[in-house]
Amino acid sequence: MPERPGFYERRIFPWLNDRLAGNPFIERFRAETLDDACGRVVEIGFGTGLNLPHNPAGVERLVAVEPNGGMHARAAARIEETGFGVEMIPGVPRTHGRFTLGTAAK
Ligand SMILES: C[S@@+](CC[C@H](N)C(=O)[O-])C[C@H]1O[C@@H](n2cnc3c(N)ncnc32)[C@H](O)[C@@H]1O
Repeated sequence: MPERPGFYERRIFPWLNDRLAGNPFIERFRAETLDDACGRVVEIGFGTGLNLPHNPAGVERLVAVEPNGGMHARAAARIEETGFGVEMIPGVPRTHGRFTLGTAAK
């Protein structure tokens, strides 16, 4: 990810991510992958939040790491619809205090 994302990163890539990775075939794998997720979850490379609806009831909180601001805009509506808290880390963190996680998704 470049220091200052250009037009492709901010506009095209988020749109492409939703178009290509939001289809029913891939959705099945998202659900299978997150089936055992619970407690506090970290998703590194959160994108537009396509994994959000597949987090099972046991997930209490999600730490979303996503350096591309173009993804944040598309993720906002999905975050609002989610029944658990989502903490967005809008960069590539070197440190993020100390916390205990149940699941890490990518
Ligand atoms: C292919 S997308 C996947 C998004 C989402 N996890 C999904 O399944 O739809 C990969 C994401 O990783 C993000 N990314 C790239 N480099 C990263 C880094 N060093 N740390 C965290 N996220 C990064 C990109 O901006 C992009 O949104």
